[in-house]
Amino acid sequence: MNRGRTLPLLFALILAGCVPTTPAHSEIPAPTQKPVAAPAISPVPIPAPTVAAINVTLYSTNEADSIWVVADKLRPLQPKRYVPAGLKTINVPHSSEPTLRDDAAKAYLKMFRAAKSDNVNLVVQSAYRSYSTQVTVYNGWVASLGRKAADLQSARPGYSEHQTGLSVDIASATAGCTIQACFSTTPEGKWLNKNAWRFGWHLRYPNGKTAVTGYKFEPWHWRYVGVELATELHLTPKITMEEFFNLPAAPDYAP
Ligand code: DAL
Ligand code: ZN
Repeated sequence: MNRGRTLPLLFALILAGCVPTTPAHSEIPAPTQKPVAAPAISPVPIPAPTVAAINVTLYSTNEADSIWVVADKLRPLQPKRYVPAGLKTINVPHSSEPTLRDDAAKAYLKMFRAAKSDNVNLVVQSAYRSYSTQVTVYNGWVASLGRKAADLQSARPGYSEHQTGLSVDIASATAGCTIQACFSTTPEGKWLNKNAWRFGWHLRYPNGKTAVTGYKFEPWHWRYVGVELATELHLTPKITMEEFFNLPAAPDYAP
């Protein structure tokens, strides 16, 4: 062995951390270099994690077939008798026909399966409603509650997001509280509050926002907006679509 050439090479390898300095190599003299103190690093501020800003003009809030359409008491669907394309009826537990627009139907199925795997059993209470179905539903509420109270929980025909095929009222298979505020305390209501955004669903009529949305708290009413917007909305609890898109509050119909 040519020790004159090998030893400098071994020192270099040891210094580079390539050769373990175990007793097996104790015949090799330890390097005499003193440990070098780490250079002083001036603190660099770590930027707060940021969420990529959503492009708020990506989809229309006016077009009835847009996943971001906002219909409220000041923003009827255009046209009022709009019928969405691509309606699909899905095979899930329901108490009225579980028909939604294709994209919302797929998202509901995914959410339904995820909930089921957590032992949470979602039931479609009401999904797509045509203009004429909304006439029947709204008139039913007016007959039982009077027009003023009905207007706080049922949209007039042409003003309901159910007519877009992007909204669904969800009930619990076992816990009761169907279409009642206490739905939010059921396992299904709690699960939805925690997880629905992951599948693109947004709580459209949150508690305490009647002055903005025009409707009472509806913990059962979920609106499909796509995962990107649902995620963004989820970052601000109880935010409404009106607030997010800077649209006028719609507590009542135009006179
Ligand atoms: N319950 C909601 C507001 C609707 O009728 O569309
Ligand atoms: Zn609803």
